[in-house]
Amino acid sequence: MNQSILLEIIYLIGSVTFILGLKMMGKPDTARRGNTYAAVGMTFAILGTIFIHDKEVKPIVYILLFGAIAIGGIIGWMVAKKVKMTAMPQLVSLFNGMGGACAALISIMEFSVHTGDMKSIMMVMAGLIIGSISFSGSMVAFMKLNGNLNSNPRIPFYNVINAIILLITLSTGAYVVFGSVTDFMWPCIVLALALFYGIMFVLPIGGADMPVVISLLNSFTGLAAASGGFLYHNKVMLTGGILVGSAGTILTIAMCKGMNRTLFSVVFGAFGQGSAAAAGAGTSATGGSIKDISVADAAVLMNYSKKVVIVPGYGLAVAQAQHVMHELEALLEERGVEVKYAIHPVAGRMPGHMNVLMAESNVDYSKLCEMEDINPEFETTDVVFIVGANDVVNPAAKNNPASPIYGMPILEVDRAKSIIVNKRSMAAGYAGIDNELFYNPKTSMLFGDAKKVVTDLVAELKTM
Ligand code: TAP
Repeated sequence: MNQSILLEIIYLIGSVTFILGLKMMGKPDTARRGNTYAAVGMTFAILGTIFIHDKEVKPIVYILLFGAIAIGGIIGWMVAKKVKMTAMPQLVSLFNGMGGACAALISIMEFSVHTGDMKSIMMVMAGLIIGSISFSGSMVAFMKLNGNLNSNPRIPFYNVINAIILLITLSTGAYVVFGSVTDFMWPCIVLALALFYGIMFVLPIGGADMPVVISLLNSFTGLAAASGGFLYHNKVMLTGGILVGSAGTILTIAMCKGMNRTLFSVVFGAFGQGSAAAAGAGTSATGGSIKDISVADAAVLMNYSKKVVIVPGYGLAVAQAQHVMHELEALLEERGVEVKYAIHPVAGRMPGHMNVLMAESNVDYSKLCEMEDINPEFETTDVVFIVGANDVVNPAAKNNPASPIYGMPILEVDRAKSIIVNKRSMAAGYAGIDNELFYNPKTSMLFGDAKKVVTDLVAELKTM
C-alpha cells in the first residue's frame, strides 16, 4: 500500500478514536475506556508520523525522538500518578501550558519553511500567538493555584494595558503575514509579545477564578494545535485541536453557567466583591443561631431514616473521606435506608470533581444524581448529609439578589426534613460568603474533619 494512504488511514483511525474517546468521557462508567481509546489513537498517530514518510531520516533523529518521548512520558506518568485530586487544576494547567508551548515552537520552526506563502504564514502566526498566550497564561495560572504567586495582585488599569499589548501583538503578527516579512527576528518579536500578553492576561484574575481561566486557555491550546493541522494538512492534528478547542469552550461556558457568572466578569472583574460578601462568616445576617449535633445522634437519625441524600463538596475531597463515605453508604443500605449522592456541577474545584472522587471509592454510578434530577427528590428525603460543601447549598443564590452567587443554581437541600452539615468551623467556602442554611431550624452542625466524622459515624452505626 502507498505510504501516504497508509498514513491517512492511521490518521483517520486516530481522529475516530479521539471523537469516540471524548464521547465516552461524558459518562463516569465509560470515561476510563474513553481515555484509553483516545490514548491508543494518539499512539498510532505519533508512531505513524515518526515511521511513515518518504524522507531519509538519520538514526540520531530517532534516538532524539524516542529519548524525548521516554523522558516526557515518564515525567508525565509520575506526576499524574502522584498528584492529589485537589491539586488537579494545577496539573491540568501545567499540561495545557506544554500543549501551548508545542504549538508555539512548531510555528516558529515553520516560519522559515513557509516564508512567502501568505496562507501558511497566517496559520504560523495564529499558532504562534495563541500557543504562546496559552503557554505563559497557563504557567501563571499554575503558579497562582500552587501558591507561588499572589492570587489577586492589584494592577491599575490592567484592562487598558492588556488591550494595548494585545493590539500591538496582533498588529505585529499581521505585519509579518501581510508585509511578506522574511527576517526571523519578527516572529521572535511576536513570540515575546504574545508571551507577555499571556502573563498580563492571567495575572490580574483572582486565584479563585483560575479553573475557568484554565479551561479557557485549554480551548486556546486546541485552536493553536488546529492551526498546526491546517498548516500541515494533518487531519488528526486538526481533529484533535478542534475537539480540545470546542470541549474547552463548552466547559468554560458550563462552569460559568454553574457559577452564574459571565465569562466577561471572570476575565475582567473580581469575584466575591458583592455586598453580601460583607456578611462575616459565622454570624447570620438575620441574627439566627446554629445548633450542634453529636455523632451518636446523627447516626441514630440516619439509621432510622428511609432516605438519606449525601452532598459531597470540596471539604470531602480535601479530607479524602470518599472511601469511608462509601462504607457509611453501604452500612445504611444494609439497614434498609435508601442512599443517594447529590452532585452539583461545580462542587469541588474542577468539572466532574465529585464524580471522579466518588467513582474512586467504587460508589455505584446510578447513585450519583445530577442536580436537576435530585432537586425534586429532597421533598421526600429524611436526612440530607452535607459533607464539606458550602456554596453549592447556599440559599442566598436563590433568595438574596445582593449576593455574589445570586442566580447560581443550587442543591435545594432545605426542602428535606432534616439537614446535617459537616465542616470544621463556620468558615466560608470558595465564594467567601456566609451561608444562611447553617442557621435554618432544620439544620444541625456536625463539626470536625470530614474523614474523622464519617469514620466515627461508621463506628457508631456498627454498634446499632
Ligand atoms: P466550598 O463552597 O468551597 O466549601 C467547602 C467547605 O468545605 C468549606 O466551607 C470548608 O469549611 C469545608 N472543609 C474544608 N476542609 C474540610 C475538611 N477537612 N473536613 C470538612 N469540611 C471541610 O465547596 P463547594 O460547596 O464544593 O463549592 C465549590 C465552590 O467552588 C463553588 O463556589 C464553585 O463556584 C467554586 N468553583 C468550582 C469549580 C468547579 S468546576 N468545580 C470551578 C471554579 C470554582 P471549613 O473550613 O469550616 O471546614
